Amino acid sequence: MRKMIDIEFGSTRYNELVELRYKILLEPLGLKFLDSFRPEEAKYLHIGCIESLDGKLIGGLILAPLDDENIRLMQVAVDTVYQGEGIGRELIIYAEKRAKNAGFSTIIMHAMLSVVGFYEKIGYSIEGDMFEEQGITFMKMVKKL
Ligand SMILES: CC(C)(COP(=O)(O)OP(=O)(O)OC[C@H]1O[C@@H](n2cnc3c(N)ncnc32)[C@H](O)[C@@H]1OP(=O)(O)O)[C@@H](O)C(=O)NCCC(=O)NCCS
Repeated sequence: MRKMIDIEFGSTRYNELVELRYKILLEPLGLKFLDSFRPEEAKYLHIGCIESLDGKLIGGLILAPLDDENIRLMQVAVDTVYQGEGIGRELIIYAEKRAKNAGFSTIIMHAMLSVVGFYEKIGYSIEGDMFEEQGITFMKMVKKL
């Protein structure tokens, strides 16, 4: 039974999420997860998808507050074996509820060009022109909650 969960910063699940984000997002791009990122992440909301209560983490994302209104969705990752089964969509729907309950009114994100279609399906709109960071092309996307 799959379940979306809140993950506490610094917990065992948090470390699993860091590993999953590294494996799915950072490693393929040749990027590292640096321990110096951790203190900043204490302020974020961390969300995961587990197979069962004691089962492994198969997806996750982070939400970084920007100000009282806006929160930034980052590093959405679904384990390769489980991609295309609706977990990415479920994770984002759960994250949107969490963000709304926490008082935020807008989610913003920088989507890699290859996943813009995925976010459009879930109601995100492109804002502005594409831009490059570390050789990767992104689009800014937003959704009002
Ligand atoms: C992108 C990602 C998060 C999507 O999660 P997922 O669980 O595989 O996606 P879902 O099964 O929930 O897909 C929901 C819908 O989006 C579509 N979709 C999935 N990936 C897509 C893509 N790259 N482009 C366009 N549409 C996409 C699905 O076909 C599905 O459409 P449907 O409702 O018409 O059937 C996941 O594939 C992943 O982790 N990819 C690697 C990391 C990555 O690129 N993350 C994004 C960082 S910005």
